[in-house]
Amino acid sequence: MLDLHPEDEFFQYLKAGSAPPGFDVYPVFRKLQGRYPVWKSPWGDWYVSSYEAVCHVLMNRDFLQSPPAERGAGSFVHEQTRDLARDFDKWLLFSNPPQHAELRRAFSRAVKGRSLKRLKPVIEDVCGKIVPDSDFGSCEFVDSVARVLPVAVVSRILCFPEEDQQRISDWSDCIRRGFDVGLDSLSHEDVAALEEMMTYFRDLVKSPTWRRVSAQSGLDELAETFDSKTAASNLAMLAFVGHETTVHLLGSMLLSLSEYYDAWQQLKSHPELVKNAVIEALRHQSPVQKICRTAVRPIELAGMRIPEGEMIVLLLGAANRDPARFPNPDRFDVTRRDNRHVAFGIGLHRCLGDNLAVLEAETLLSTLLQRWKSFKVKPSSISWHDNSSLRGLDRLCVEWTA
Ligand code: HEM
Repeated sequence: MLDLHPEDEFFQYLKAGSAPPGFDVYPVFRKLQGRYPVWKSPWGDWYVSSYEAVCHVLMNRDFLQSPPAERGAGSFVHEQTRDLARDFDKWLLFSNPPQHAELRRAFSRAVKGRSLKRLKPVIEDVCGKIVPDSDFGSCEFVDSVARVLPVAVVSRILCFPEEDQQRISDWSDCIRRGFDVGLDSLSHEDVAALEEMMTYFRDLVKSPTWRRVSAQSGLDELAETFDSKTAASNLAMLAFVGHETTVHLLGSMLLSLSEYYDAWQQLKSHPELVKNAVIEALRHQSPVQKICRTAVRPIELAGMRIPEGEMIVLLLGAANRDPARFPNPDRFDVTRRDNRHVAFGIGLHRCLGDNLAVLEAETLLSTLLQRWKSFKVKPSSISWHDNSSLRGLDRLCVEWTA
């Protein structure tokens, strides 16, 4: 048995869903991978940490998404949170075939192909405005840069009025807290904010102005094909998944570059490696650390028998540092080859915004490289937020010279 005590930080991290400040999860992942790549926890959920087993689950139709309300069936104490969970059940992210394909198609046009071309100048324009270009200076990077770009891009996709942009960021924080502590344990203020969010999106999809402008961003199919509750829930989902994850990528990428400063210097002389650097940042500090599936029939995985209906937690952050797949996995290496990480998931639910997120990070990194000669992070300012599903920084103060 894995020696795990309720007072252990790792136990807290897995069970309570929050990591104590400064807790380094990667050495424990390594231990788990070596001995129990598929591990049954004392509280009943299965944890999968090897790259091979994570890919196997994601590519296998015997493991399906389990939507929040369905998962917590009957256990919601508060009526409001039960209703919110039902709204979240309509998300593309939590849907299963056959509805999944229809919803995914309705979103694809807004974030793939020609939409990326349309969004490129928006991304360049925002990066030009938010990256400081004075001779030298200092800033708190998360709030002044990393949080600004994704919200601007997502607002453009959602055809969101500019004056309401800040609301996406605030709602997105509430959703994250809901997934951290469970919707039922959210504060009254957070529940009220999420109810307001749902009302806002329901009104938005019914508004003739939004219906007209959304045709330009390719979201009109969503409003035309689905009822207003499903369309509104999915817009809220897009605001969350398109924003929060990318903020974390941008912050962690800069931190990794400061910790492996030779990589920053290498990128200065080899800008063609910028995309590699972004891919490596996704692998090295995966913004989405864990996702879940449910076994729809009894199934064997890495020698373990998983009964039907049990919950499987896929540790993407562990898989992306699996030494059996990535040589020297803890090193941030912008020249790494064959870097097929699972930070965007794989299979049916593979991230729809993968190319968009990479484009945002690439454009930001190129702008930083053009404007800053050197930079350093103030170590005392580094603060990771304590959520164990999404990994990202709350704070990162940097000083630069141009
Ligand atoms: C660094 C940034 C991002 C990361 C790490 C990330 C990660 C992920 C992961 C791991 C999944 C799969 C979840 C699962 O299988 O359960 C996913 C799904 C999804 N992502 Fe992203 N994502 C990012 C950015 C974005 C952006 C910018 C958008 C759109 C604006 C987006 C839209 C979506 C959508 C719509 C899905 C659901 C796809 C489906 O269920 O078929 N993501 N993302």
